[in-house]
Amino acid sequence: MRIALFDAKPYDRPGFEKYGSEKGLSITFYETKLNEDTVGLARGFDGVCVFVNDTVNAAVIDKLHEYGVGFVALRCAGYNNVDVEHAFGKIHVFRVPAYSPYAVAEHAMAMLLTSVRRVHKAYNRTREFNFSLSGLTGFDLHGKTVGVVGTGKIGRVFIDICRGFGMEVLAYDKFPANDSGLNYVPLEELMERSDVISFHCPLTEETRHMVNRESIARMKKGVVLINTSRGELIDAEALLEGIKERKVGAACLDVYEEESDVFFQDFSGHIVDDDTLARLISMPNVLVTSHQAFLTEEALKSIADTTVNNIIEFTEHGTSENELCYRCGNIEDCKQKRRQRCF
Ligand code: NAI
Repeated sequence: MRIALFDAKPYDRPGFEKYGSEKGLSITFYETKLNEDTVGLARGFDGVCVFVNDTVNAAVIDKLHEYGVGFVALRCAGYNNVDVEHAFGKIHVFRVPAYSPYAVAEHAMAMLLTSVRRVHKAYNRTREFNFSLSGLTGFDLHGKTVGVVGTGKIGRVFIDICRGFGMEVLAYDKFPANDSGLNYVPLEELMERSDVISFHCPLTEETRHMVNRESIARMKKGVVLINTSRGELIDAEALLEGIKERKVGAACLDVYEEESDVFFQDFSGHIVDDDTLARLISMPNVLVTSHQAFLTEEALKSIADTTVNNIIEFTEHGTSENELCYRCGNIEDCKQKRRQRCF
């Protein structure tokens, strides 16, 4: 079984080399991302392994199919970068539905605490022996209201952490877990009442730009926004305006709309072309991390382990329990539910 692993980073290798060789996979690591220009590199492989910023659109799928590549193994949970509908009948797609919800939820809280207690500023000051406290006044999280959008695996862990801080939690989910005891409210109400809003829902047509000029106008003055989900949930231009108008108190962004052009790469010493990103980063109340919320040892181990298992399961049984199929949600008698090949 020959796998081409795209967008390979040094931290990907140890796990994939270990689990891959244990299971007899031959993995070739490509630093480049998979897209229409690089898809030729997949020729001769049985499958490709991709991450969040690889492009698996219709054109790429058609080429992979033409080369006889049988599957796309996502080593992440989100799959908005894959045209799953177009893939049906051509190429099988698997994902890693969960690897460590704790990694992402803890990073969201780390960003929130850093931001509201100005730890990033204090760190830089004391390194230069500047022990002044001016401008470092924060606020207690205890007693504040946090709105959590998306109460799946990560959202629920984040809610538990917030409760530990004594915060009141409001929740919104398109598919609420009604037996959870969570205080579900309409999205508009959550936006209006929350001091802090954290996003943990997937990127879909419905959630794209759910933070926009109108929704920001509805929010409390000084609201803190946390996005560890997908960049396109937030209209970055509208966020920038909200910050300039002093409406948004702080933004903690682990993801960004146009991140695929810059994130995961070293641009120090270069001119960054994205003016919106550059302006956001220049703001004292904006904290940007480079899609690193998942990056813990536990998560990396789990990602490599599950991805390799998905491939082995598919090879041996023709399907994987983590296969994505656009039809499964729509038809009653789904083959995958009977543990048979989708096509
Ligand atoms: P999950 O599938 O367990 O939970 C997602 C929740 O969002 C579900 O409860 C679902 O009902 C809800 N949802 C679906 N459509 C919605 C809508 N229109 N409005 C509100 N809620 C909606 O997923 P999980 O594991 O909690 O991950 C959440 C997101 O976090 C992923 O979609 C992914 O984009 C992002 N993520 C980011 C990482 C990072 O490193 N920054 C790492 C892993 C995931």
